[in-house]
Amino acid sequence: MDENAGGRRWWHGAVLYQIYVRSWLDTDGDGYGDLNGVIARLDYLSWLGVDGIWLSPTMPSPDQDWGYDVSDYLSVHPDLGTLADLDRLVAEAGARGLRVLLDLVPNHTSTAHPWFIDAAGGRDSGHRDYYVWADPAPGGGPPNNWLDATGHPAWAWHEPTGQYYLHSFLDSQADLNWREPAVHSEFREILRFWFDRGIAGFRIDVAQGLYKDAELRDNPPGEAGDPLVGRSGQRPLHTANQPESHGVFRDWRRIAERYQPPRLLLGETWVDLAALAGFYGHDDELQLAFNFPFVFAPFTARGLSAVVADTLAILPAGAFPVWTASNHDVGRFPTRWCGGDDRKVRLALLVLATLPGTTVLYYGDEIGMTDVAVPPELRRDHMTRESGGRPGRDRGRTPMPWEASPSGGFTAEGVKPWLPVGDAAARNVADQRQDPASVLSFCRSLLALRRAELGGRVAGYETVPAAEGQWVYRVGGLTVAANFSDTPAARPGPVGAVLLSTAGEPPPAGTLRPWEGIVTRRAS
Ligand code: NOJ
Repeated sequence: MDENAGGRRWWHGAVLYQIYVRSWLDTDGDGYGDLNGVIARLDYLSWLGVDGIWLSPTMPSPDQDWGYDVSDYLSVHPDLGTLADLDRLVAEAGARGLRVLLDLVPNHTSTAHPWFIDAAGGRDSGHRDYYVWADPAPGGGPPNNWLDATGHPAWAWHEPTGQYYLHSFLDSQADLNWREPAVHSEFREILRFWFDRGIAGFRIDVAQGLYKDAELRDNPPGEAGDPLVGRSGQRPLHTANQPESHGVFRDWRRIAERYQPPRLLLGETWVDLAALAGFYGHDDELQLAFNFPFVFAPFTARGLSAVVADTLAILPAGAFPVWTASNHDVGRFPTRWCGGDDRKVRLALLVLATLPGTTVLYYGDEIGMTDVAVPPELRRDHMTRESGGRPGRDRGRTPMPWEASPSGGFTAEGVKPWLPVGDAAARNVADQRQDPASVLSFCRSLLALRRAELGGRVAGYETVPAAEGQWVYRVGGLTVAANFSDTPAARPGPVGAVLLSTAGEPPPAGTLRPWEGIVTRRAS
């Protein structure tokens, strides 16, 4: 059978699963998860029922930003394993029908990357124009007002060559200059290198940020409270969403689609919905793009359904939305949305897995893993450590609790994990696997139902009028009814047979329990 028949792609309707490799499973006793740990748990992932995995950065890096400061795009970080391990991982995953995505960081490199080292060697060095260099402002000081993600000036003074270089993140992460054609050639080669090895695609870091204003004009202030403004507090008018970026994605799309099966480009698109639509192009740019307005929507029927409606209205016809709610930057939805209440966690999973499009789970979502309070002396994230009193990102990056032991089965007992494990006895994979009433068992049933009923189809979505606090929608042959409230609710009918309830047992006829969601076969 041609798996691409009718324009169908493997990621249509897929469930992808993000693994923060350092926190997944440590097989060599150094306190860090590794690629062999990923291999060791592939059976778990196929049991769970996901279609592909996205590995957080795997390339060599000085780890100022845990792999998002790449020093070699064509290799594997020695802490995580070897290229041979990654090849084996791809093969083992493939044998289980799982695809493997890597994280690609094209906005910046580590200042330890040989390109930057050469660029810093002199103004006429071969790689000078790979980066964004600028003279001081006329009165001295940085060339403009741009701030980095920590809220500090985005320009670092480079004394030996008398210019500033741009860094949108840490000053050890120098922004690449996408106005330099050689940077394009380098990344084409990087894409091909990994695609040739069987990598199924990339999650593209900071996809909105590759190009900056050619005239380096100042950014205006951002609106208070807008999560998309980030730590800089500025509206990234001249540092994000520059029209030239689309040419890069069209180029990469052509490369990706030459492979069989076609490779996936999934953008980290930290933008509002209007800009998000642009990343899909005319079905000739990114095939998928993360939806951050959904991530930051309030966990209410009205809040979530409004973002879903706006998303579906604004994306180009045939484009697949992406539904996700946790990641290594924004923390875990079981905390942010659900306050650790498992009824709400199940409801959130239900919504994530039944909206039309592609679902991306973060490791631990399936057991309702919550953020772990990481005391200041154990924090490992330089970026948020340097940005004042805001909650750091470490809380959402702690080791996967596989079992109830103190190490959570993440590493050998007695080895200090790189981040604290948290209370593994309270919530772990082994216990939940045995418990048919657990979040994990629910999640597995949900993914099986999704695969059977919705897999691969752009299932039309329409809402059914419902009372305040409820969200009822039809998708494919299913109706989903969700009660986002602390009180029982009457359920709008008619609805067909209950296929799944977040509460385990179907609710009494015509009702929904507090925070219960159900999937029914649509009554004809
Ligand atoms: C987004 C990544 O998800 C984040 O972890 C990283 O710090 C920045 N991009 C910079 O690469």
